[in-house]
Amino acid sequence: MAADGPRALVAGNWKMNGGLAMLKEPRLLVAMLKDVKLRADVMVCPPAVILRRVKSVLKGSKIKLGGQDVHWAVSGAHTGDISADMLKEAGCSAVIVGHSERRTNHGETDEIVRKKAEACHRAGLIAIICIGETLEERKAGRTLGVTKQQLAGSLPAGATAANTVIAYEPVWAIGTGLTPSTAEVAEVHAHIRSELGGLMGSEAVQTRILYGGSVKPSNAAELMSQPNVNGALVGGASLKAADFLGIIKVYT
Ligand code: 13P
Repeated sequence: MAADGPRALVAGNWKMNGGLAMLKEPRLLVAMLKDVKLRADVMVCPPAVILRRVKSVLKGSKIKLGGQDVHWAVSGAHTGDISADMLKEAGCSAVIVGHSERRTNHGETDEIVRKKAEACHRAGLIAIICIGETLEERKAGRTLGVTKQQLAGSLPAGATAANTVIAYEPVWAIGTGLTPSTAEVAEVHAHIRSELGGLMGSEAVQTRILYGGSVKPSNAAELMSQPNVNGALVGGASLKAADFLGIIKVYT
């Protein structure tokens, strides 16, 4: 990984996994990282109903807490939804927005994602904005065009390096065991950095761009060493503390 540039972030997205039985994993992670000096921030994003429980497990550690989704409104008649202030109150410092599973399963458009990121910023939360192409789009040579469009549509006007993280997650790499080649990862990340330059000006240099999609202990070092890769958004391999640690270790 690059010696300069932003401090890396390794975030675990538990998705819809993990009830109370899962609390043993962050407990283990806290113990395993206790005396480890890291060059990266570490975060876990559990399901909303156990955020407070996980927060108390993380107490006294440097591991941060994130939400997986948020509503864009401050409050109101939005049954089943959660506001950014509520997530903040539960102990979150960041929220994942625009994950491809939200875009696909819940019809979230770039505009919705942008409004959600704005809500995060209003509440003082970091928005982790996800973008990424489908397999069809990659095969059609549209990866750079699609990611450019998603970025332009999803990034709010007030985005800074401090309040925004971009996660590049090729849809076809999520949960499949497939990953782009290192050259492909480097190409897309360089493209994202350059597009951010146009959208955010000088803030782009220090904005973290994470790679996500089938990151595991065996491929993390190679993926994380690519230029403009400033950490990982990890799904399946974040569910077991030992696996997640195997990825975090890249930054020891
Ligand atoms: P996997 O690591 O399970 O492929 O999931 C990636 C992801 O979607 C993280 O948000």
